[in-house]
Amino acid sequence: AQLNLFARASGKLYFGTATDNPELSDRPYVAQLKNTLDFAQITPSNSMKWFATEPSRGVFNFTGGDEIVRLAKKNKQLVRGHTCAWHSQLADWVEAGNFDKKTLESVLDNHCRTLVKHFKGEICKSSPKFDAWDVVNEPFNEDGTFRETVFYNTIGLSYISTALRAARAADPKAKLYINDYNLEGLSPKSDGMANLVKKLKAERVPIDGIGVQGHLIVGQVPTTIKENFQRFADLGVEVAITELDIRMPLPPTRELLEQQKKDYQTVIAACKAVKKCIGVTIWDWTDKYSWVPGVFEGEGAALPWDENLTKKPAYYGIVDGW
Ligand code: XIL
Repeated sequence: AQLNLFARASGKLYFGTATDNPELSDRPYVAQLKNTLDFAQITPSNSMKWFATEPSRGVFNFTGGDEIVRLAKKNKQLVRGHTCAWHSQLADWVEAGNFDKKTLESVLDNHCRTLVKHFKGEICKSSPKFDAWDVVNEPFNEDGTFRETVFYNTIGLSYISTALRAARAADPKAKLYINDYNLEGLSPKSDGMANLVKKLKAERVPIDGIGVQGHLIVGQVPTTIKENFQRFADLGVEVAITELDIRMPLPPTRELLEQQKKDYQTVIAACKAVKKCIGVTIWDWTDKYSWVPGVFEGEGAALPWDENLTKKPAYYGIVDGW
């Protein structure tokens, strides 16, 4: 059983995982990270974010991103760029809100342009068919309205087109995505995404894909994933599951682990069923390095491998889903 082999056999481009630079000194961890039978794609979970790449105005640092790209290239794995325009893990100098509209527009344009250009052709060099960026991250509130970030409040909705156009100019071949969570099933939030993409398409703003993060809860996987993915695809964009993990209350029990297996299977089967769902990325692969326990109190065990790097039932749920 191997996750990427099964994904490929189902017509998908890749199965992949996020990783982070501090983890790369863990040798048993890296040995599995490099296993292309399971992972043909990698997303850096922190090192391409604004705080890391432009910590002060005009001062760029690509060290962490470069390290992950180097590892991926060596192993012929695709890399997904993450992310240009996001309200979180921003740099203080942007977050402070000291810029007027025109200045912030040029700051955002310059950031996206420089970031995407730096990794142009590096990202996914091993496959000329695939080169993708989460250009805009988490622009929505749960009710489908736009999140009031420093970008939205200062620039207005056009910050999204500014970021997408800058990315297009920097790397014309890259697939440009807008990415968010709680977009899996039909909901006011996923309606908001569908409407935004429709509008961007009508205005000829470059947009190629919708990224569905997939931060889910055991026993609470939406029943309308397939329908929602299909209506996204029908807008003329591709869909990717970009940050899949399915968390549970700790400690894990046999029942919870079995339910988690079913839940992974359900999500994977929905991607399989929609032709334009091109691939799936889990948000790291072992519970040892999951972001969940640090952010959701009392929850965790969200990934297909446990903290000892041993496969959980969830692993076989993914296999069954493909
Ligand atoms: C998370 C990282 O995994 C953590 O290490 C970091 O402390 C916070 O961010 N949505 C996203 C990701 O788009 O960038 C987030 O990653 C998880 C939620």
